[in-house]
Amino acid sequence: TKERTLAMIKPDGLVGNHTNFIQNTILASGFTILNQITLQLDQDTAKGFYAEHSSRTFFPNLINYITSGPVLIMVLEKVNAVSDWRSLIGPTDASKAKVTHPHSIRAMCGVNLERNCVHGSDSIKSAAREISFFFKKTNSAGENVSE
Ligand code: CMP
Repeated sequence: TKERTLAMIKPDGLVGNHTNFIQNTILASGFTILNQITLQLDQDTAKGFYAEHSSRTFFPNLINYITSGPVLIMVLEKVNAVSDWRSLIGPTDASKAKVTHPHSIRAMCGVNLERNCVHGSDSIKSAAREISFFFKKTNSAGENVSE
């Protein structure tokens, strides 16, 4: 059965002009891009999105980085979307990905643990939360629905 996941191209991905490469890779891998929006996240939105990391020492750096420029947020759909998108982007630390997963998106577009170019939901549950965090729910006619 089809799943949906949330993908985000982070500020260094947009600044580095990796968008076309990343979106072509997404489409060539069989995902449908159901929705997308480019946003400049403010501090509160970034903190809400990354709430699960709020107690971590890297949290202030993460919020500074993710609010440093626009991000491109997408809803991706395919069978096994959550784990397949995680496989495609590779390990969190882009500097390690360059060694262990050289063809992954993070290896090709990212820099290090913080500047890792893209985000992917880590579970079906997080995907549902993250998608509804950024996108209003719509029915099959594309109309907004309350729940
Ligand atoms: P992402 O997949 O968007 O989810 C949380 C982000 O926090 C992660 O990618 C990294 O960019 C960042 N992150 C995770 N661990 C660390 C760390 N130890 N130091 C700095 N940033 C981190």
